[in-house]
Amino acid sequence: MPAKITISKLRKMKQNGDKIVMLTAYDASFAQVLDQQLVDVILVGDSLGMVMQGHESTVPVTMDDMVYHTKMVSPACHHSLILGDLPFMSYTSTMDAIKNASRLMQEGGAHMVKLEGGESQIENVTQLSRHGVPVCAHLGLQPQSVHKLGGYFVQGRDQKTADKMLDDALVLQDAGADMVLLECVPVTLADKITQALDVPTIGIGAGRVCDGQVLVLQDMLGISTKAPSFSQDFLTGQTGGIAGAVAAYIEGVKSQTFPSDEQCFF
Ligand code: KIV
Repeated sequence: MPAKITISKLRKMKQNGDKIVMLTAYDASFAQVLDQQLVDVILVGDSLGMVMQGHESTVPVTMDDMVYHTKMVSPACHHSLILGDLPFMSYTSTMDAIKNASRLMQEGGAHMVKLEGGESQIENVTQLSRHGVPVCAHLGLQPQSVHKLGGYFVQGRDQKTADKMLDDALVLQDAGADMVLLECVPVTLADKITQALDVPTIGIGAGRVCDGQVLVLQDMLGISTKAPSFSQDFLTGQTGGIAGAVAAYIEGVKSQTFPSDEQCFF
């Protein structure tokens, strides 16, 4: 099996133009399949609130839920880097961010943590980074704020919000973020941010221009009841089962045939 993925390897992949492949997993069985197929990063996402727990949003997910599922995933992984989500209200103070990131890493086995938000997260990212915690920032659509936003919408369509998102990405990188996830962002803006940053961007509904792609596993296996328009069912119609679907997704991301123009926002 090729060497374990590290944050320096991810940065090198960006420099070499080698696309980064990320998928979510929440349990050992699926994590093992993803790891064996050499998915670069496994995200234990708070999307588990929807796909595992049946909620309408990620808001009900607790820190204990995240630790539990990260713990289920990490022993199955020998290659993939494990990224754990800090859930809603678990990083409202820097002390909480540090305490909860350390739970994800020490109890759960995560190698990196993800938090949603722009400028408001500078202090958290700075302190996490100073304490040796790799951080992935999450910009664009931030699902933990769904009730404030009033729904799941594309973000950064007008000049002002687009400029703000680019500024946020740059200040978060300066604060120590090692990766930036862009959710539901128009392709031209995702491109600008990707080119402006030294650290990799990972897109979901943000186009092929990003340095990598992520999907929710259940969406790409076609078993979600409400899969978003930017996702794709990689399982139906191919013969290799779940491992084959994951391999097809990897090939789609690496060859830049996924996402197609129809799966992007302009
Ligand atoms: O929780 C999650 O799975 C995520 C993805 C939607 C990127 O944050």
